[in-house]
Amino acid sequence: MRISLLGGTGDIAEGLVLRWSKVGHEIFIGSRSEEKAKGIAAQYIEKLAERGIKCNIHGMPNADAATASEVVIISIPAEYAVATVEYVRDSLTDQIVVTPVVPMVKKGKAFYYTPPSQGSAALEIKEVLPEGVRLVSAYHNLPAKELSEIDLELDYDVVICGDDDEAKGVVKKLTEEMPNLRVLDAGPLDASSMIEALTPLIVNLNVRHKPQHFSVKFV
Ligand SMILES: NC(=O)c1ccc[n+]([C@@H]2O[C@H](COP(=O)([O-])OP(=O)(O)OC[C@H]3O[C@@H](n4cnc5c(N)ncnc54)[C@H](OP(=O)(O)O)[C@@H]3O)[C@@H](O)[C@H]2O)c1
Repeated sequence: MRISLLGGTGDIAEGLVLRWSKVGHEIFIGSRSEEKAKGIAAQYIEKLAERGIKCNIHGMPNADAATASEVVIISIPAEYAVATVEYVRDSLTDQIVVTPVVPMVKKGKAFYYTPPSQGSAALEIKEVLPEGVRLVSAYHNLPAKELSEIDLELDYDVVICGDDDEAKGVVKKLTEEMPNLRVLDAGPLDASSMIEALTPLIVNLNVRHKPQHFSVKFV
């Protein structure tokens, strides 16, 4: 499958790019800077080649990445996610768009969830997407560092939500190709605030229990 990552040069994107490349997907790394995207793509190609893995990774501006794929991940910090989606809006038609975006701030000694007036980052992003795009909320609770260690098996649950079952099915399949992630469907996109809100809790636990990198597992 062709998968694009807006802000694909960043932390959460790294593990997704490497792990999906490893299982044969074609990856389009988007960036505000074509040069930066191409440089990061070259680094990931080299990293995989060292392990004898052939891959298909391209670097390009965000708008070109958005148009290149069936699945587009918004791997952009919360403050800039809506503006980036607005910027690439004309490149989006009927893709599956995935938001891992978590709005949060540090106040004093802890991080807190700071949802926009719509109730969640997912609902805010949904407002600026073209009608034919199907939005799935996922990956908020994955630690970027462990995700990027591609030989590590991740014994975590990925809770997803969205209003289109077929789109959620595609995201479930792509996610479960990364060992040993298990996808749990939490229902409609409206439920995204509950998944997003877990992330500052996890970050606060990580700060206090170093070197642990917690995620989520339902038992
Ligand atoms: N890091 C994690 O562990 C983690 C886990 C779960 C979910 N998330 C969510 O995933 C999203 C990305 O997180 P991240 O940690 O990967 O972020 P990041 O590494 O800080 O940034 C990702 C990319 O965003 C782009 N960017 C930065 N400032 C921008 C701006 N003003 N306008 C447009 N693009 C900009 C940059 O790409 P270019 O400079 O190449 O344009 C950057 O490489 C966030 O919404 C976060 O809440 C993160």
